[in-house]
Amino acid sequence: MGSVGAKEVPTLLTPDGRRIDGRRLDELRPLSITAGALNQADGSAFVEWGMNKVMAAVYGPREVHPRHLQENNKAIVQCRYNMAAFSVDERKRPGLDRRSQEISKVIAEAFESVIFVEEFPRTSIDVYIEVLQANAGTRCAGVVAASVALADAGIPMVDLLPSVAVGKVAGSIALDLKKEEDNFGEADLPMAMVPQSGRLVLLQMEGHMNREELGQALDLGVQGCRQIHEKMKGALRERYAPSSANPQEANA
Ligand code: CDP
Repeated sequence: MGSVGAKEVPTLLTPDGRRIDGRRLDELRPLSITAGALNQADGSAFVEWGMNKVMAAVYGPREVHPRHLQENNKAIVQCRYNMAAFSVDERKRPGLDRRSQEISKVIAEAFESVIFVEEFPRTSIDVYIEVLQANAGTRCAGVVAASVALADAGIPMVDLLPSVAVGKVAGSIALDLKKEEDNFGEADLPMAMVPQSGRLVLLQMEGHMNREELGQALDLGVQGCRQIHEKMKGALRERYAPSSANPQEANA
């Protein structure tokens, strides 16, 4: 550990390229996705990703509330990303703060660009993301959970939407930052990608990187999104075709 003023700064990268949790720079945290985790929602998914725990529920297409938001030629996508008061080390004040509003907005816009919204005029597709435990990358975990929940609800989309944060940690570009890396690293760049086309529909950045590093980060993010996409498809297969995912279960 080094220290900056009173703050202890952990060693983020060892000389042999290991990160604070032993991962290599291009490694994801363990990710598990359960499609259809809730009974009442039209579609749902639960994601455990490193120490993040995120539930997503989807309703719709259904009547628009508030009514004046209704669009005559397409569905609107409304998203509410919320962090539970108990999800972080220091209790978070409950309710929608500016950060949650911003995240809700960028996630809604990302989904609006992949859902066939013109098929459902005058309706709303409502996406709820509840972060139960947070350890950096919760907006990405939220996108992954919500995307599987949308598929579980049978909402037609161009494709699933894998999402991951890439960043710069101790001078190196790293995939899927955890909390200490997010806090003490130099940059954090969450992204979401349409796997078919490689189109980025969510891209934000906090911190600093040069152009070369940015290119490297995007490449690493694309690689991460491809791995996450496989897990998302696996979760849906597990729910809808368990025989192909696990033949023993089908015989039980
Ligand atoms: O979670 P994400 O990386 O998408 O968003 P962030 O704004 O970069 O936050 C990074 C992490 O900081 C969160 O995942 C939480 O672990 C933590 N955080 C917190 O402890 N209290 C907050 N009010 C907001 C974030």
